[in-house]
Amino acid sequence: MYIDKVKQEIKLPEKVRIFDTTLRDGEQTPGVAITPDEKIRIAKRLDRLGVDIIEVGFPAASLGEQRAAREIKGLGLNAQVCGLARVLQEDIDAALDSDVDYIHTFIGTSPLHREYKLHMSQEEILNKATEAVEYIKDHGIIAEFSAEDATRTEFEFLKNIYTAVEEAGADIINVPDTVGVLVPVSMHSLISDLKDVVNIPISVHCHDDFGLAVANSLAAVEAGAEQVHATINGLGERAGNASLEEVVMALMVNYGVKTNITTELLVSTSELVSRITGVKMPPNKAIVGENAFAHEAGIHVHGVLQKAETYEPLKPEMVGHTRRIVMGKHTGARAIRSKLDDYGIEMEEDQFCTLYDQVKKLGDKGKMVTDADLQAMAETVLGKP
Ligand code: KIV
Ligand code: ZN
Repeated sequence: MYIDKVKQEIKLPEKVRIFDTTLRDGEQTPGVAITPDEKIRIAKRLDRLGVDIIEVGFPAASLGEQRAAREIKGLGLNAQVCGLARVLQEDIDAALDSDVDYIHTFIGTSPLHREYKLHMSQEEILNKATEAVEYIKDHGIIAEFSAEDATRTEFEFLKNIYTAVEEAGADIINVPDTVGVLVPVSMHSLISDLKDVVNIPISVHCHDDFGLAVANSLAAVEAGAEQVHATINGLGERAGNASLEEVVMALMVNYGVKTNITTELLVSTSELVSRITGVKMPPNKAIVGENAFAHEAGIHVHGVLQKAETYEPLKPEMVGHTRRIVMGKHTGARAIRSKLDDYGIEMEEDQFCTLYDQVKKLGDKGKMVTDADLQAMAETVLGKP
């Protein structure tokens, strides 16, 4: 396959760490607020799922955020518990008071952020960033540094700030594509260039404003990023972040790169987060959507019934999903026969033709035939009460 040729040409890491930010950036989804108790439920589930780091929130934002962080830390999870902090001592202190293992500190670096938000020079920003990292490291805590809006920052300044925080003791740098403006080829080039100047691991944080968050995260991994920030169901500011389930399955199936995720828990985790946040998934959402493993067209159903791989790139069980054959106007006779077999319903050829006709007619009226409908229709055709 073509992908195998490409894989020989790129140097992929054996494993990628998943930094989950559902409870922080995901909670910034417009209209979503997660209570401390709900955060605890989601954190327990993320830990079972196998994420490496859980960004539990922004402790300086409220007492509830601090309480949630402290209680999640108290659960003794396998995942490292991370709190977000601006490069301000009071933010870092709030995270330290919450007893987190890991602090993700950030400051805007692009001209837009410098001029309109921070009113600070490059030098002032660089000094604040290094002071923050030193302060975190003085407390013996893991420090991740993000240059917010990195992808719209002059490369010279980006290099300077990332090398300065590395010297200050940062354990990892994160490259946020804050407004999702990169395309995969530019993300690849940016990470490759940064790899030439920093020696600590590189992480990426991609937003989905142009629907490219997953593709950009994968391009970053191709260029040597060792960690990806992601959220369950792709929740997050505006159009959201890279969807964890898509990143993980693409890494595993398309690239052969491992993560610590127990993929069989992806669908149930997506459902839990959807229930708690109230954000419903579109049926055609990759991996976890209701239709991700549903087939209607006769040719597809025939193929899948012979050999699932014809129209399924991965097995539904791998992500905790189930295959669904949907009856409608595209349904072929084989699919209906196979359903009847499953229900143990036998009928003569002329009866089958009547039933088949009825399914098609309903399909032409824009209706779907559910399994229960098909059984009822079959029984009517057979003359059963
Ligand atoms: O999108 C972003 O830049 C962020 C930062 C806090 C890392 O979420
Ligand atoms: Zn973000």
